[in-house]
Order: sequence, then C-alpha cells, then structure tokens
Amino acid sequence: MTAVGIDAVEIWTGKLKLDLPETVAPIKDKDPDYYTKGLGLYASSFPDAHEDIVTMGANAAYRLMERKGLTPDDIGRIDVATESAFDNSKPVSTYIAGCLEQVYDEDFHHANKGERKFACIAGTQSLDDAYNWIKAGRNRGRSALVVATDTALYARGDPGEATQGAGAVAMLISEDPSIVELSTEQGYGSADETDFLKPNQQFPSVDGKRSMQVYLARMREALEDFENAGGETHPDDYVFGPYHTPFPGMVRKAGLFAFRHTIRDTDIEDELAAKIGRQPREDEYDDREAYEEAIRAYMDDLKSTEQYREWYANTIEPTLGISREVGNWYTGSVHIARASALQYAVENDMGMVGKKLLVGSYGSGAQAEIHAETVQDGWDEEITQLSIDEQIRNRHNLTYEEYELVHDRHNHDKRVELDDFTEPENEFVFTGRGEMDERTYEYVE
Ligand code: CAA
Repeated sequence: MTAVGIDAVEIWTGKLKLDLPETVAPIKDKDPDYYTKGLGLYASSFPDAHEDIVTMGANAAYRLMERKGLTPDDIGRIDVATESAFDNSKPVSTYIAGCLEQVYDEDFHHANKGERKFACIAGTQSLDDAYNWIKAGRNRGRSALVVATDTALYARGDPGEATQGAGAVAMLISEDPSIVELSTEQGYGSADETDFLKPNQQFPSVDGKRSMQVYLARMREALEDFENAGGETHPDDYVFGPYHTPFPGMVRKAGLFAFRHTIRDTDIEDELAAKIGRQPREDEYDDREAYEEAIRAYMDDLKSTEQYREWYANTIEPTLGISREVGNWYTGSVHIARASALQYAVENDMGMVGKKLLVGSYGSGAQAEIHAETVQDGWDEEITQLSIDEQIRNRHNLTYEEYELVHDRHNHDKRVELDDFTEPENEFVFTGRGEMDERTYEYVE
C-alpha cells in the first residue's frame, strides 16, 4: 500500500520575543531557574502588531508552497487546527486561502476547507483526516495542506502566563512523502475532563496541576491502546519521541512515565532489576495506595539510572530545542518537537531513513493519541531548508512594558492600536476589520 505522511513542513514564529529569565523573572520576583530549569523555557514568542493566527498560518503555508513549487491546483484540502479562532462560524482556513489567492493566479475553490478543534491535539487530528482522505482515494492526486496555528495567551497573572507562545506550522500531506510516513496503528486515550477550557472566552480557565495529571493519564491510556492495536513500544524501536510540549518540564515527567511503561516485561526491565528491582505490579499489593507509593519509589530510582538518563538525552531532549525558545504553540507544539528532533539528526549526521519516531499528541479536555512515524528518503533535504533558528534569532526582544502592550493588542476585547516592532517584508499582514467585522489582510513585499 502507498505510504502517506508528511511531505514538507514550514514553521513561522511570532516575530517578538519575551525573555523569561532576563525580562520577566525580575518583574515577577521569581528565581530565573524557575523558568529555565523548572519549566525548561528560556523565551516566549509573540505576534507583532501586524500578526495573528491567519498571517502566521498563511506565511508558513506560502513558504511551503513556494519551496515545493506548488500552485493551488495541487492542494485538495486545507485544514486549520487552532484553539485561538476569532469566529464561531467562518473557519480560519478560508482566511488563509484568501491570503494565498492574493499571490497566486489560481484559486482554491476546489479545495475542501475546515477548522479542527480539540485543544492542542487538533493539529494531529488534521493530519489523521488528511491521511484518511488520501488512503480512501478521494484526493484525485492532490495533497492536503494542514496548518496548526495558535496565539497561546493566558490572562495576565495566570500561572500559565509563563508558558505562552505563538506560531504556526504548515505541513503538506501526500502520497510517497519525503519526511515521514504515518503508521496505520493509532492509540487513543480520551475522557470528558475539565482541566483546561475556554467557554466562549479568549483566555483559558485552567486547573494547572490537574491538567498535568490528566496529560499523563490520557497518554498512558493512548500508549496501551496503541499496543492493543499492534503498535510496538520497545524503547529500542524508536530514535525520537516527540510529545506535545506545553513546556519542556511537562515532557520531563511524561518521558519518565513513558520509559517505565515501555520497558515493562522487556530485557531493559530485567537488566535494571539487579540495581533497582522489578517494577511493582498492582496485583502484588493489598490496596491502590500502597501500590502507588511503591510506583513512586521505583520511578525515583529509575530516574537516576544510567539507562534512563541516556534514553532521555538521546530520545527526548533533542525534541525540546525549539520549544525552549518559543513556549507553547498549542496545536503546533508536537509538530515543532518533531522538527526539532529531525534538525538535531541533521546536525549530528544521523542516518535516519527507515528509523522510527513514537509521536505523542495531547489536547486538554482531554485526549491523547500515540502513533508511529517512519522517516523517509529525502527527509534531510526538507529539514535543512527550515529557517526557524534564524527566525528565532531575529525576533524583536521586548521590554516588559512592551510585552504588556502586545498582550493588550492581541486581547480580542481590548482592540488597542499599536505600532509594529518589526518591519514587515515578503509576508501577509493584518490590516484591520471590514464592514462585517471580518479581518482583512494584504501581502507586503
Ligand atoms: N529552580 C528550579 N526549579 C524550580 C524552581 C527553581 N527556582 N522553582 C520551581 N521549580 C520547579 C518546580 O519544582 C516544578 O517542577 P516539578 O513539577 O518537577 O517539581 C516546576 O518548576 C514548575 O513549578 P510549579 O509547579 O510551582 O509551577 P506553577 O504552579 O507556577 O505553574 C503550571 C506550572 C501549573 C504548569 C502552569 O504553568 C500552568 O498552569 N500552565 C498552563 C497549563 C499547562 O500547560 N498544563 C500542562 C498540561 S495540559 C496541556 O499540555 C495542554 C496545553 O497545552 C495547555
């Protein structure tokens, strides 16, 4: 059967930077290590005054189309994943198509457009939709454009404010892809949860500590479901594990849980048994509390073993490079984790064709998905062309007072005017609102 997966990727970061240890820590009277060591974050990306989810998504998509020499006729569907939409009816994909139609002679009237919502997992769900559409043979030779775009803002003073971020990832999903093939096997962990939600409001209501527990519980379910679907989970089968990364500290916890789960009943558990014993099994304990305490003690020991440290340094750490510099991008977050790992592989001359990634996506509310991806011939040419490192370096570094103005500018209720911090060049920009309060955009050379 033909391979289907990610053929090309482009990333667009918001053009402003908020330095967490340098700029925010002194104002909030926090130890800089809270950000860099605790959360694992150095900076957040923010949209400039002329940017929003549409411009970031359209700019990533336009770059991708230009680089691949595509025209609208090559694209059969455009799905936008976001949890930052500003309209309950008209999807962001129509705005992005409208932007792209300003720069191409052809239009996208033939393309099926939609908007996917399930918190941060919607980007992966859109990949799945595109995969199914192609596998079903409904694509008529065309590819799908998936755009994950978010402005992840929290109310000022919310603990989540430290994890903010903004950016977009555009991905082309095709037959015979050049980056990764997606596995048929998928695992889900899904439950009705109220850990993080936005009931008709821009900024989330969050139960932060609970959201972390729900993330881990749903991921574990998804891993088990993936195994039940026939998916392999032995750590040696995977080179990288890109997970949804709200902040790297969350992935530090998820990595330990995943390692414990995937070494159970394997040669690795046997090898470690001499040093830290075998993993506690629930049926060996009289009650749940005693079992959980034993698990906690085992995880503490596991964390300090050489095997775990080496696995984490090789498999997980390389996925966090971009996230540390940009913060949470919600729907795009797991997709920058994949890109970050593949950039690391290019930098370290790793032969990756045929190697596998175990991808863990998560959305609050809540659902996790685990699937595998196999790296394809041509992956390195695609990844080498990413300009995200340069974009990150070129961001305008905000003062705290400027950050407050930027937060207000992107607050849907405030609608404040603000001059740009950066000069737009060869990009789509937000120009204002029309008669029906629709947003308007133009391409600036
Ligand atoms: N030096 C080193 N480490 C420090 C430190 C210091 N000076 N001060 C604190 N730390 C450590 C803490 O020990 C803690 O690490 P551990 O959990 O490993 O012990 C870490 O820094 C964070 O500290 P706190 O737990 O005290 O942080 P907090 O309560 O201020 O906020 C948060 C953390 C609850 C996650 C908050 O940022 C938040 O609400 N974020 C939004 C929700 C979120 O991202 N949830 C994640 C799961 S849900 C999801 O993934 C969906 C999504 O994208 C939103």
